[in-house]
Amino acid sequence: MKPAHLLLLALAAPLAQARDTSVSSPDGALVVSVSDDRATPTYRVSYRGVPVITPSHLGMVFKRGASFGEGYTITATASDEADTTWTQPWGERKLVRDQHNELRVDFARALDARSKFTVRFRVFNDGIGFRYEVPEQPGMPGEIEIVDETTEFQIPEADKTRAWWIPARAWRGLEYLYRSTLLKDAPHVETPFTLRLPSGVHLSIHEAALTDYASMTLNQQHDGVFKADLTPWYDGSRVKTRGAFKTPWRTVQVSPDAKGLLNSDLILNLNEPNKLGDVSWVKPGKYVGIWWAMHLWQKTWASGPKHGATTAETKRYMDFAAKYGFSGVLVEGWNVGWDGEWQDNGDRFSFTEPYPDFDMRQIAAYGKKLGVGLIGHHETSGAVSHYAGQMDGALDYYRDHNVTQVKTGYVTDNARIKRVDAEGVTRYEWHDGQYMAGEYLHSVVAAAKRHISIDTHEPIKDTGLRRTYPNWLTREGARGQEYNAWGYPPNPPEHTALLPFTRMLSGPFDYTPGIFNLKPNGEQSENRVRSTLAKELSLYVVLYSPIQMAADLPENYEARRDAFQFIVDVPADWEESRAIAGEVGQFVAIARQQRGGRDWFLGALTNETARKLDLKLDFLAPGQRYQAEIYRDGPDAHWETNPYAIVIEKKAAQRDQTMTLWLAAGGGAAIRFKALD
Ligand code: NOJ
Ligand code: CA
Repeated sequence: MKPAHLLLLALAAPLAQARDTSVSSPDGALVVSVSDDRATPTYRVSYRGVPVITPSHLGMVFKRGASFGEGYTITATASDEADTTWTQPWGERKLVRDQHNELRVDFARALDARSKFTVRFRVFNDGIGFRYEVPEQPGMPGEIEIVDETTEFQIPEADKTRAWWIPARAWRGLEYLYRSTLLKDAPHVETPFTLRLPSGVHLSIHEAALTDYASMTLNQQHDGVFKADLTPWYDGSRVKTRGAFKTPWRTVQVSPDAKGLLNSDLILNLNEPNKLGDVSWVKPGKYVGIWWAMHLWQKTWASGPKHGATTAETKRYMDFAAKYGFSGVLVEGWNVGWDGEWQDNGDRFSFTEPYPDFDMRQIAAYGKKLGVGLIGHHETSGAVSHYAGQMDGALDYYRDHNVTQVKTGYVTDNARIKRVDAEGVTRYEWHDGQYMAGEYLHSVVAAAKRHISIDTHEPIKDTGLRRTYPNWLTREGARGQEYNAWGYPPNPPEHTALLPFTRMLSGPFDYTPGIFNLKPNGEQSENRVRSTLAKELSLYVVLYSPIQMAADLPENYEARRDAFQFIVDVPADWEESRAIAGEVGQFVAIARQQRGGRDWFLGALTNETARKLDLKLDFLAPGQRYQAEIYRDGPDAHWETNPYAIVIEKKAAQRDQTMTLWLAAGGGAAIRFKALD
């Protein structure tokens, strides 16, 4: 060998020492290992000794400067651990335990040790999270453009693993029916992305704390290899930033069974603590609204003879709300801009000018007298710059009229968010690119300054930011009840059996349950609610939202006063929650304890298949007697042929019992366990 070669070998020798480092969950079941023994750094995950993620790339590609990934080696590692409990101002449970082990892995480029990045892993008993942290470094361009993130999730046995998913970056955004396929047949998917391995272990891949970054979708490269696919800006770049930066956490929930996915606080634990300080002004509650009538074409958002948002109609809803203890009345279509093709004309909306038949001052005073809040509405039709220009005035206007909750809307095809840049040029953006991640948050922060809470429709997906900004109460971001009024096809019975294991893993959903007139478009119409009366009640427990709508018209509730009692009684804020049974897309049963109270509530529902569930009542307090107020499908109920058959009965209940519940095809059950003295 010539001396020159010898010299090269000697230089390369210390770097050629491949390193493999690992960290396990507090209970030892999950192990994450990180290695630089390949061209590109990789991580892998095992659960109870079996691989659930096989070696998968880590990395990032920049427009200028070297990529992270190929040629990088581990230069240092550091470990840490945490076991803390924090309090949620509102939520599925009051106390959340954050117990994890942490591993920080520093990488540098072998040929240029000044080029470095860090990957921080946190391993919990119920899953993992990791994120990239990029320090300021020599040679870093002033403006950084990420053109690709090369993070992979490589799942073994793609031909035997089941996957439930909605398509990514499709025109309807997140409003799709879930598909169930073999993993190998899932193409470009949204997250949360839910999987069942042949062993029965369930995974959900998602992300936490998405702020100044693009949303991560997953693109299957070849069998079982899913690569991060960040939603681009209009010009194709994925993320634009300056200086040091951190990415959102990439997350993988891991559970031995389906219901375990629902009992995880992983996403919240990976978000920053509350940044708003005292948030006692953020109030969970139940609401009704001038809403469903528009979706049924009985009323209009637009002005004219069928205008829904009139002073008289709002007062009628406020009277109804006050009578039955609802805290809010949502009113859509009160402000100028809805006439004509409102979906295409977001620039026409005024957020401070009511239609002449809507007297905001009178309504504010009426609501104050009754103790019922007006829930405001800002539909933007995706004209986001137009909205941003009015936002401060619009939120001040609401604050001045006692409005403490606002529903926002971004109705437009995906990639049709209208942004006008500093030069006055119109650019069209995706709902979940970096620009919109910022805009949604901007509206939440602007609202917080006025002690207003937000319910976002056509949102970016939830990544747990409610922990940091507790006034971001809820959002849509899935196919909701509205599709039953006009969507093709309406939601099939299995939809609500899929949601808990998919969309709901990201956070609260303003599904707007509780339609009592299940065939509102007439007997013959295809568009109906494919549900039973009892199942509509079960949704108040199953589909968590801290503001929960009773979506039907007041007269339809008055007509079924006995079943309506459950909606009157059910709270929207919880001390504790526990998924007690379930299989993805088939059935689910969830029990929740009222926040600050002793009563428990249970919701159970099924897909198209009727079934019997044996449910242990061991969530109830020991030694406590309860009266179970049961709302269940009648013995001959069926979503299609006999949806109103319901049995309402009272029974004694206590912790050591097992309750057998029969659920009709497309049916469900709702129970209040009232604590007796
Ligand atoms: C779509 C929302 O999901 C729905 O709730 C609302 O009524 C309409 N947009 C109009 O803003
Ligand atoms: Ca919608």
